[in-house]
Amino acid sequence: MTTQQDEVRRRRTFAIISHPDAGKTTLTEKLLLYAGAIQIAGSVKARKASRHATSDWMEIEKQRGISVASSVMQMEYRDCVINLLDTPGHKDFSEDTYRVLTAVDAALMVIDAANGVEPQTLRLLEVCRARNTPIITFINKMDREVREPLETLDEIESTLGMPTVAFTWPVGMGKNFGGVIDLRKEQMRVFRAGQDRAGVEDDEILAGLDNAEARKRFGMYYEQAQGEIELVSGASEPFDREAFLAGKQTPVFFGSAINNFGVREVLDALVDLAPPPGARPALQRVVEPTEPKFSGVVFKIQANMDPAHRDRIAFLRISSGRFERGMKLKVVRSGKEFRTQNVMSFLSQRRELVEDAWPGDIIGLPNHGVLQLGDTLTEGETLQFTGLPFFAPELFQIVELADPMKSKQLRTGLTQLGEEGAIQVFRSQLGGSLLLGAIGQLQFEVVAHRLRTEYGVETRFLPARYQMARWVTSDDPNELKKFIDANAARIAWDSVEAPTFMVTYRSDLNVAEERWPKIRFHAMREHA
Ligand code: G4P
Repeated sequence: MTTQQDEVRRRRTFAIISHPDAGKTTLTEKLLLYAGAIQIAGSVKARKASRHATSDWMEIEKQRGISVASSVMQMEYRDCVINLLDTPGHKDFSEDTYRVLTAVDAALMVIDAANGVEPQTLRLLEVCRARNTPIITFINKMDREVREPLETLDEIESTLGMPTVAFTWPVGMGKNFGGVIDLRKEQMRVFRAGQDRAGVEDDEILAGLDNAEARKRFGMYYEQAQGEIELVSGASEPFDREAFLAGKQTPVFFGSAINNFGVREVLDALVDLAPPPGARPALQRVVEPTEPKFSGVVFKIQANMDPAHRDRIAFLRISSGRFERGMKLKVVRSGKEFRTQNVMSFLSQRRELVEDAWPGDIIGLPNHGVLQLGDTLTEGETLQFTGLPFFAPELFQIVELADPMKSKQLRTGLTQLGEEGAIQVFRSQLGGSLLLGAIGQLQFEVVAHRLRTEYGVETRFLPARYQMARWVTSDDPNELKKFIDANAARIAWDSVEAPTFMVTYRSDLNVAEERWPKIRFHAMREHA
């Protein structure tokens, strides 16, 4: 019989992050292939395509060729249970990605070897580093003419400010890509092309770091690799697990996802190097995964994944204890009871009812609005996990109805989309049209599209005059009230009724800060 400790120890929960087109979808598919979670290569891609068929609002993904939604996949590999969280690649949806990153214990960063570190990678990395999330790096597309590996490592070190430790090293690239040398096992895996390759069992292995046969076959490319290996092993720090776990060093692997090459090494690294679920901070105390009582936090809400059912699913990461189907949970914020008959897992990308689940696992809780982003669920204890970020919007639009008869539908739609975090919805203190706030322009497009297709509402978005928003708090409730009354024309309330100061010019904020020293102005709000 396995104990809870065993179950925790064998969990690995991680997210794949990358700039769009670096190969995230392809790599995900190959990882699933290894784990036997899918039989045929191409099915994640196919799913990427078929999702559009089943899920109307994702049409916009197709039009734009981007991934808007994020999803969860669970698989078994060796003796581990791996939870893989996909994240939207486009920067306009980075807020969603940030929240997903709060639910993982490690991240796999995919870099296109031709493009090096791209802007979106950098932004995501900043979030990981703020949380000290350990990062494994995969440098993809070595089957193309790309940058020299030393140059790419250099770039990672300088732009991301993080030492790299090469675990594998490529021999050649593009047409002359010979394979990768595993620096730990001291052997070379010879490259074979093939998109549908499932396994690596019949791969050719050349032993040692100075193999005569390899030298003969790959000539100057092999020698160049040997020289580079000598250089990096002399110049870079040795692998230090503590530093890696603290997000201060990243192991690097080279390969070609599309050819399923160099992927196995990454999967092994996830199992061998990445940490199992750890302790999680709550307002009241720190929660250990091995505690017997269940607790978890909602980090993502997705409505209408299946438009036929008008469903709304809250994604919860288990922090402690064991989940058992049917158990009664308490939503700490509201004190309401939550029944768990229909809770789902995401095993092999199919949704199925989950019987039990453990810390690190992600479960999907269907609900009609009783669960919100950042909600903590427990067996009764009053706990509130911290750290789920909301960022102050940088773009604002006023929403107007094309058909005034549909105002109820508009409100319902915006409330639900606001709860999902797809957009931030503000209500002005003085009434009037609803104000929408976003980080990226595409968020408005997605919302307009979803309002039309899911709620049957045609809207017009007009530019608003604001440039910034700041949540306001104060230790002195009277002072806060005074501030709100004195600035009524510029106060708006967000979906959780947090007061927000709307800023037209940056200088307005400076003036307010000076005039109201007891008021704090926040660019980020943590759910609490
Ligand atoms: P993303 O999820 O990060 O956006 O990237 P995705 O996996 O969709 O890959 C982006 C493009 O890069 C795809 O080509 C994919 O086939 C290609 N790709 C991924 N890994 C490799 C690799 O190791 N080598 C090479 N040469 N290409 C790779 P596409 O033409 O945009 O799409 P598709 O027509 O192949 O689906």
